[in-house]
Amino acid sequence: MCGIIGYIGEKNASPILIQGLRKLEYRGYDSAGVAIQDGDTIARVRSVGKIENLAARAATEKLPGTVGIAHTRWATHGGVTEENAHPHTDQSESLVLVHNGIVENYREIKEQLGSEHIYNSETDSEILAHLIGEHIKESDGKLTEESFRLAVECALKEVRGTYGLVVMHKDVPDYLIVARMGSPLVIGVGTDGYYIASDATPMLAYTKKVIFLEDGEIACVSKTDMQTFNLKDECVVKCVEEIEWNQEQAEKQGYEDFMLKEIHDQPTVFEDAIRGRFNVEEGTAHLGGLNMTEEEMHSVKRIVLIACGTASYASMVGKYAFERLAGIPTEVDVASEFRYRDPIIDKHTLVFGVSQSGETADTLAALREAKRKGAFVRGIVNVVGSTIARETDGGTYIHAGPELAVASTKAYTNMVAILLLYALQFGRLKRVALATGERMLHALLEIPQKMNEILDTAEQIKTIAKVYANYDHMFFIGRGINYPVALEGSIKLKEISYIHSEAYPGGELKHGPMALLSENFPVFGIMTKDQLYDKMRSNIEEVRARKAPVILIASQGDDTAKELGEHVMYTPKTMELLQPLLNTVILQLFSYYVAKELGRDVDRPRNLAKSVTVE
Ligand code: G6P
Repeated sequence: MCGIIGYIGEKNASPILIQGLRKLEYRGYDSAGVAIQDGDTIARVRSVGKIENLAARAATEKLPGTVGIAHTRWATHGGVTEENAHPHTDQSESLVLVHNGIVENYREIKEQLGSEHIYNSETDSEILAHLIGEHIKESDGKLTEESFRLAVECALKEVRGTYGLVVMHKDVPDYLIVARMGSPLVIGVGTDGYYIASDATPMLAYTKKVIFLEDGEIACVSKTDMQTFNLKDECVVKCVEEIEWNQEQAEKQGYEDFMLKEIHDQPTVFEDAIRGRFNVEEGTAHLGGLNMTEEEMHSVKRIVLIACGTASYASMVGKYAFERLAGIPTEVDVASEFRYRDPIIDKHTLVFGVSQSGETADTLAALREAKRKGAFVRGIVNVVGSTIARETDGGTYIHAGPELAVASTKAYTNMVAILLLYALQFGRLKRVALATGERMLHALLEIPQKMNEILDTAEQIKTIAKVYANYDHMFFIGRGINYPVALEGSIKLKEISYIHSEAYPGGELKHGPMALLSENFPVFGIMTKDQLYDKMRSNIEEVRARKAPVILIASQGDDTAKELGEHVMYTPKTMELLQPLLNTVILQLFSYYVAKELGRDVDRPRNLAKSVTVE
């Protein structure tokens, strides 16, 4: 999730753009850059690290001009370097662009452009700049606003993936082309010109009048006018809307807290996680970052997933998937234990470090220990360029975008997504049939829509959550794949509401915990239809017999669940291994609303830190 800001108008662009980048910092960044047009030249400055590094350089270089674009990058393709920072140029260095999103078919485009194209970065965005540049070359005569637009349109028709894009060209001064597909862009209508940004935050100081671009739309913006087209080159009429948000509300995109925003981000970032990483015809996943030959993959006798907190519960879902699909014995090891246990690791062990931040001290130390012992060590990480990403010999970014709330939500679902893809990749190599692989991929593709169905029931979940905010304790129970879901539900509740909660496998209650049950001790059962459904029902009956209030997550259509639970929240059905991706969203919302009812600071719970870089 990067940030774009553009300006075209009467004022000096550079201070507006730099200030705009500061406002976009909350989206996460590791580098930034700006390009300003002055007559028929474009000056470009980029810098790694804080926006202030860029601001200092922009101040030194002065950068006159009233048209410009700027970008904060949160790396997806390629490391954190000045070369990889935006804006990028085409081969002729006449065209400059900033891009958010992922060009899935960038390899094919690169191949098609041929070897005469020389690239200065490892990014898909630079390839997109070259592609547009190539279409401009094909248009006859002097470049005009119209031929520039048509070249951009032609290029975008060849792109598979997502983009929020702003392009300028030195031969068409005072003109910006803005395009959106899956990556938001807002155009602010000011009295002095137009502001373009990934969200409204950087333009609030100048205007509250905005135009929201939709997917497939291309806006051509001059200092005094803008026109919008679709990819068929037809004119589209856009409405100017008035926004009421202040800066803080805009950062949260109108949600009350970052946690709620991040819960709602999940359908979109889930797509980002899986996009371009599988092949339906072959029924398998292709996670190139694994960096292992087929022979090496076959040599793996054991998988160890090392993580802390929520990442360890995501890993536990991975354990079930690796064992079921690939038949490889898999363990989840809490990093702080693993590092001091003298674990049994050898060259037939594949170790994944799973971490949102990529900086968790215990996970990092444990991975170093595994590496010393000769295992294959790979990372499943959110923050690009983080220490775990750098120190492992490969792995996969989960593409959840910056997660700012301390309690992890969207990083969890994307970790699960990547672990499922890895399990499928190993599974197809070993024992999973093509048809099963295909079925799983189709089921994964349906997940965002099903997550949206759950998010649409937020109000019902809120009503139920209010009832349970008044209890001091709660158990979460689940069986099979829903046991890790119970663990994740329990940690979410305790970390943001401070209600004491514990999670157990359904079958374990009778071996001790049941002694605590009474009418004051609710039990939250995750009872979706799977191979252990009947067993789980019996466990719930046992709970009811002790008079404990019961809340359930049940599969849509399971009407009998109402007989067992005081409250039932229904979830769409999917393949059993994928069910945690949906059930967990309900639990996130439940915990969130319990915590809100209690007046907690959900984004910054007491005593906890987002990234634990000390032991
Ligand atoms: C902290 C956070 C948790 C997170 C855990 C692991 O405890 O509060 O939300 O799950 O660290 O963090 P990581 O960045 O390694 O996923």
